[in-house]
Amino acid sequence: MTLNPTKPGKQQRLPSLDENRELTVNLGDTRDQTNTLSTIPILSNRVVNVSSVPQRSPLRYPGGKTWLVPQIRHWLANLPKRPVLFIEPFAGGATASLTAVMDGLVDNAVLCEIDPELSNLWTRIFEDADELAARVERFVPTPSNVRRAFNKEPLDELDLAFNTLLKNRINRGGIIAKGASKMNSGENGKGLASRWYANTIAERIRAIGRHASRFDFIQDDGLNVVERYKDKQDAVFFIDPPYTVAGKRAGKRLYNFNEIDHQALFDQMSEVRGQFMMTYDENREVVAMAKNRQFRLAKVAMKNTHHEIMYELLITSHELLS
Ligand SMILES: C[S@@+](CC[C@H](N)C(=O)[O-])C[C@H]1O[C@@H](n2cnc3c(N)ncnc32)[C@H](O)[C@@H]1O
Repeated sequence: MTLNPTKPGKQQRLPSLDENRELTVNLGDTRDQTNTLSTIPILSNRVVNVSSVPQRSPLRYPGGKTWLVPQIRHWLANLPKRPVLFIEPFAGGATASLTAVMDGLVDNAVLCEIDPELSNLWTRIFEDADELAARVERFVPTPSNVRRAFNKEPLDELDLAFNTLLKNRINRGGIIAKGASKMNSGENGKGLASRWYANTIAERIRAIGRHASRFDFIQDDGLNVVERYKDKQDAVFFIDPPYTVAGKRAGKRLYNFNEIDHQALFDQMSEVRGQFMMTYDENREVVAMAKNRQFRLAKVAMKNTHHEIMYELLITSHELLS
């Protein structure tokens, strides 16, 4: 890994995704130990309109990275060598892997997720896409049909996968974690049906099924997957863990599994031979962990669920900006 920290205060012209305009920002010093958020370069100030991005995931996943797709594509397309393998140890809705493979930016992807419910859904999508898609098309999400789906007994793996998808589409914020509540009025007062776009969801599932041989899904702790592939030079890693550094609560409410040893994850990433991109919320502890290991830092604008513009951190093994 070549690390080449920029000199303090140096101005650099950055190729930007913002309609081909260039941004001039102060790159600061990536070795600076002060952890000041304001010295981190802004990679993009433009909030991506997610409806302009091809959406591959059948899930509306909390913390999903559809808004980051243009940056992920830009990163992958500009690597010195086309990566063979894309590794996503914290898969969630798997937008990054699905985009990388289905847009032909990498050959294959390894997805890992620790949540058994979500893992069962991904396994069924990769192994039984047509059957699951047909169920989605047949289902009419009335309150009584929803109740019947959840009360059915016994439930086989396909029933469970369907119910996970259903929960994701009808719960507030797509949250499937314990304690999540159903939407009441939904969008335009359409209630439970307001996010059940059966044809679109079914088509996404079938499209993934057509590429299934290029995905390897693993139910495991993401840290084990990083360990397994860390010596593979032609692999790239996309790391999007729950944002729970410094006891942040947001990441805890969204996922059943949210306890991560972030220091251990950062330590592992310093041993990875391929290139990587990590995403985190903007906070000083994260900045410190990245700077202590001479990782690169940049900020990207996004809109949160309350439609407020904020920044997230991109932490990379290499210079994203030059
Ligand atoms: C921020 S979300 C990923 C979102 C994803 N990038 C997307 O676009 O939908 C983090 C995911 O990591 C999973 N997770 C939590 N702890 C994990 C662990 N130790 N190993 C693997 N996955 C884990 C959570 O269940 C959650 O689905």
